[in-house]
Amino acid sequence: MTQSIEQLFQQDRAHFMHPSTHAHDHATGALAGKIIRDAKGIRIEDHEGKQYIDAFAGLYCVNIGYGRTEVAEAMYEQAKALAYYHTYVGHSSDAIIELSSRIIDWAPVGMKKVYYGMSGSDANETQIKIVWYYNNVLGRPNKKKIISRDRGYHGSGIVTGSLTGLPSFHQHFDLPIDRVKHTVCPHWYRKAPAGMDEARFVAYCVDELEKLIAREGADTIAAFIGEPVMGTGGIIVPPAGYWPAIQAVLRKHDILLIADEVVCGFGRVGSKMGSQHYGIEPDLLTIAKGLTSAYAPLSGVIVGEKVWGVIDRGSKEHGAMGHGWTYSGHPVCAAAALANLRILERENLTRNATEVGGYLLERLHAEFDAHPLVGEVRGAGMLAALEFMAERDARTPFDAALKVGPRVSAAALQRGVIARAMPHGDILGFAPPLVTTRAEVDEIVTIVKAAVDEVADQVAPR
Ligand SMILES: Cc1ncc(COP(=O)(O)O)c(C=O)c1O
Repeated sequence: MTQSIEQLFQQDRAHFMHPSTHAHDHATGALAGKIIRDAKGIRIEDHEGKQYIDAFAGLYCVNIGYGRTEVAEAMYEQAKALAYYHTYVGHSSDAIIELSSRIIDWAPVGMKKVYYGMSGSDANETQIKIVWYYNNVLGRPNKKKIISRDRGYHGSGIVTGSLTGLPSFHQHFDLPIDRVKHTVCPHWYRKAPAGMDEARFVAYCVDELEKLIAREGADTIAAFIGEPVMGTGGIIVPPAGYWPAIQAVLRKHDILLIADEVVCGFGRVGSKMGSQHYGIEPDLLTIAKGLTSAYAPLSGVIVGEKVWGVIDRGSKEHGAMGHGWTYSGHPVCAAAALANLRILERENLTRNATEVGGYLLERLHAEFDAHPLVGEVRGAGMLAALEFMAERDARTPFDAALKVGPRVSAAALQRGVIARAMPHGDILGFAPPLVTTRAEVDEIVTIVKAAVDEVADQVAPR
């Protein structure tokens, strides 16, 4: 028996606890959700048959676009042949073996092995356990603290929620844990003291990191984790020279570098990974989202040779590592990833991210550089953002109560474009699928311009 839409919504409100959702407003119906029924290319369709351009690729993950039957068929074939077997004690499957070597081809040089999970959060939890294990094997039990950055996003588990540098992920959860320390966010526009140019701002970020290391003691710090381009914290592109300068400090103090490539990996910033794009030589690397374009939940920790050498030694001294998930290396997810990587390569989507992403940024600059509501236009590859400011040159933000970012996002949605109001500040984020065309960029920018103008008329009448 088919249910009416209203019955479906009632059941949703009664029994489904949604992530990152206002519990009371959802339960009472004050929060109007959508039931998504269908999707193709860069467009999704809701329960009313209304179409939207998804200019955020779900949660920056549907990189090959929606409705690719090639991936569905690969999963179906795999599920028929072998839907599941565990990978403990050396068990494997054809799909996961092939995928592991394909991932190493996409990774920067010096990467050795892949450990699998189901989400970016669990992969980063694994990262921290590996780093702690590494220092225990090396006989350095005090070298355990992890440095992350304000506004970084690394997940919402207990350690990963601590690494995430956004207050809403800490409040009411007794986070961050003591072993996690935060350093400055490398956002020149908002964080550089007045009059400081980008080069001096990089030196300032390095200096802040050095001071934190000196305060805590280098012999207590195990690793630094960072996204090549920050995502959820506001789509923040690092200033030129930032990563090599940070990396030099970490090497000096024997601190491991974890590149969180959950958003940047698999072509999104216009290189295989963000690491190659920004000259990062990580010891460990986290992948998820674009690995399967979200057709199946799969994440990974890529372990570099240096750390692998210690894990190898640890097993000889202490036996097998006590760490594993039931679904590590799931064959159906591996089949989805293999089909996804085939499409990414065949359609040269990394190059499309550079070309069409470059066009998106160009169009945003053309429309918004002089717009009274916009303080900064920024982006890299197929990632972009508009930051709204009450006064651009003085860098004065709007009163948060005005909710300028969410209002622009709602006005764009109403006109048929999904662009995300980022959780920190008044920032509208774009992360369209890597298959997006120039014509679709034109559609997105035209609609977003109308949305920004509407909100400008409300909050800052011209
Ligand atoms: C950079 C980064 N790391 C980790 C995560 C956590 O991934 P998940 O939501 O799959 O746990 C995210 C999620 O958006 C992310 O953007």
